[in-house]
Amino acid sequence: MLYREMGKTGEKISILGFGCMRLPIMGTYDRIDVEKATQLLDYALEEGINYLDTAYPYHSTETSKGGASEVFLGDYFTENDRRDEVYLATKSPTWLLEDEQDMDRFLDEQLKRLKMDYIDFYLLHSLKEKQWYHLEDLGVFEFLDSAISDGRIKYTGFSTHDETDFVKEVVDSYQWDMCQIQYNYLDENIQAGSDGLQYAAGKGLGVAIMEPLKGGVLADYVPQEVQNIWDGAPVGRTPVEWALRYLWNIPEISVVLSGMNTMEQLQENLKIAEEGLSKSLTPEEMEIMDDVKQVYQGKISVECSRCGYCMPCPSGINIPRCFSYLNQAEMLEDYSEVKNQYYFMLKDFERAGNCLECGLCEELCSQNLPIREQLRNVEKKMGN
Ligand SMILES: NC(=O)c1ccc[n+]([C@@H]2O[C@H](COP(=O)([O-])OP(=O)(O)OC[C@H]3O[C@@H](n4cnc5c(N)ncnc54)[C@H](OP(=O)(O)O)[C@@H]3O)[C@@H](O)[C@H]2O)c1
Repeated sequence: MLYREMGKTGEKISILGFGCMRLPIMGTYDRIDVEKATQLLDYALEEGINYLDTAYPYHSTETSKGGASEVFLGDYFTENDRRDEVYLATKSPTWLLEDEQDMDRFLDEQLKRLKMDYIDFYLLHSLKEKQWYHLEDLGVFEFLDSAISDGRIKYTGFSTHDETDFVKEVVDSYQWDMCQIQYNYLDENIQAGSDGLQYAAGKGLGVAIMEPLKGGVLADYVPQEVQNIWDGAPVGRTPVEWALRYLWNIPEISVVLSGMNTMEQLQENLKIAEEGLSKSLTPEEMEIMDDVKQVYQGKISVECSRCGYCMPCPSGINIPRCFSYLNQAEMLEDYSEVKNQYYFMLKDFERAGNCLECGLCEELCSQNLPIREQLRNVEKKMGN
């Protein structure tokens, strides 16, 4: 296993991290198959994986919504003596934080579930611009400072699916140790993007990558044109190998988290990680990846440059974000995953269906886009 430093913490983290959001499941709900999940973790640790990522809501049981991933990890480390071999990351459920006491209350509950007296990396989960200022008002920085001083957590971080400018603002707001962002070869200009990644790393934060395969889409759905390019490459690699190697090629990335729910996936990703050196892809290989990106990007229907000139919309619609979600869905020819994000990230009034067709945006658009028509298209494809 190769290891990299988690930013300024200097902690040596395995370049492949184990995502505990997609553990093997059985029966109804997303009930963890404990036997299989235990086998995977045993194997992962034996092979040198030392970074585990979970969160307050991951996995449910018949009787509880959420929390089962933390409980599983707690039981796992109670039954062996390996807690000190790993870095355990979990996250505060920021959307449930209503008053100041909630931050301590959730952290204490998580420590209880995990049956641990400290957490290595404690992240504010899924930060969004729309609730960030509320967290600041609650005194989130003072809470993090106190949790470090009393030893309940060692390092701080945040995860987010929000956009670059917001990521930069959050990076600059506190002395974070790390951040976790969605990134893969199709996301260079989406969410934090390359710009956000480099900014965070430049400020000394370790960078953990989530959704390196776009939640499995880059493995499960490969358009024929893309497969033809992979087949024509001088080196034979699976789509998963290309996607992971692309990430490890970037020196600023500390750890790539993968949700591996079978032994085959774990073994394949471990094997790929053996060659996950930074700056190891040749210029020719990068060109191949550019060709693949171009195929995906050729499927984009709205050439929005996200300049924001069209904003603010009198109805409150977040026009660039609506187009960004539509483009993502069309590139992947898969609406279900992106549609979830569209509903999760945008407020009701920010979605395309609220367009009153006033046309002010079209007068301002730097690309002369038929915005009203395209918003109707977003509503048709993404609306319920
Ligand atoms: N903070 C947040 O808001 C947040 C959000 C998302 C994720 N995360 C964390 O980041 C971790 C990684 O994200 P992710 O689980 O979305 O990662 P991902 O690697 O993009 O997607 C995981 C899926 O990829 C597929 N996969 C993995 N390895 C494969 C292989 N070798 N061959 C074929 N398919 C393979 C599996 O799909 P199938 O199940 O279809 O086989 C697996 O469920 C999560 O587990 C979680 O811990 C955090």
